[in-house]
Amino acid sequence: MNAAPRYDPTAIALHWLLAAMILGTLGMGLYMTGLPFSPARLKLFNWHKWAGMSILFLSAVRLAWRVSHGRPPSPAMPAWQRRAAQFTHAALYALFFGLPLAGWAYSSAAGFPVVLFGVLPLPDLVSPDRALSDSLRALHHALAYTLGALIALHVAAALKHQFIDHDGLMRRMWPAWRRRATEGS
Ligand code: HEM
Ligand code: HEM
Repeated sequence: MNAAPRYDPTAIALHWLLAAMILGTLGMGLYMTGLPFSPARLKLFNWHKWAGMSILFLSAVRLAWRVSHGRPPSPAMPAWQRRAAQFTHAALYALFFGLPLAGWAYSSAAGFPVVLFGVLPLPDLVSPDRALSDSLRALHHALAYTLGALIALHVAAALKHQFIDHDGLMRRMWPAWRRRATEGS
């Protein structure tokens, strides 16, 4: 009856699917670059690229859904917190596109075209170029670390709302079955 506004099931499913994929791809990136040259390293590089391209595609679906469906009205909170959340969410969305695009452009510049899932060759974003490839690699790394820092901030804020403010913000992004199970308790 007194249900607080929450994200719709599609937005919730995309949030958690992409959260898992992005954290996995970040971890894979950090792990694979530390491996010695080997078939395993090559395999992980390809998986990383495919996962990153899938994130790019799903982020476009997510953004389209968000623009067409909006978001539930914000809960009561100080203005600075609302602005901080808006800024963080906007920066996260920007990185969902900027980071994979930088990775794709880096692969093109380095002369390793992306063949999606080993079957679908994607066009090169730029021509092979050593100096450009070095810059794009540095950009991809910098954006990846920025994304990691923003995710840490985002999760810390969600946990603060849940365990310090006790304002039910987390329920807005929680699957409905979980929410129904905890309602009334
Ligand atoms: C959201 C998606 C992505 C995330 C979170 C991500 C994250 C990362 C991270 C953390 C690293 C390691 C950085 C380091 O060692 O300092 C990395 C490296 C790399 N990424 Fe991504 N990446 C993504 C998408 C992509 C895409 C779409 C491609 C190419 C199509 C790509 C290609 C690469 C390559 C080739 C490297 C190795 C660079 C090197 O040799 O140092 N990434 N990525
Ligand atoms: C334990 C992990 C996480 C928790 C508890 C969590 C929680 C939440 C909550 C409660 C919201 C709704 C905030 C509001 O209503 O104002 C939200 C939104 C959002 N989260 Fe997370 N999140 C987590 C992980 C992630 C990760 C890993 C990412 C990105 C890689 C992410 C990206 C976003 C984005 C972009 C939004 C804004 C959604 C929109 O308005 O379209 N989240 N998250």
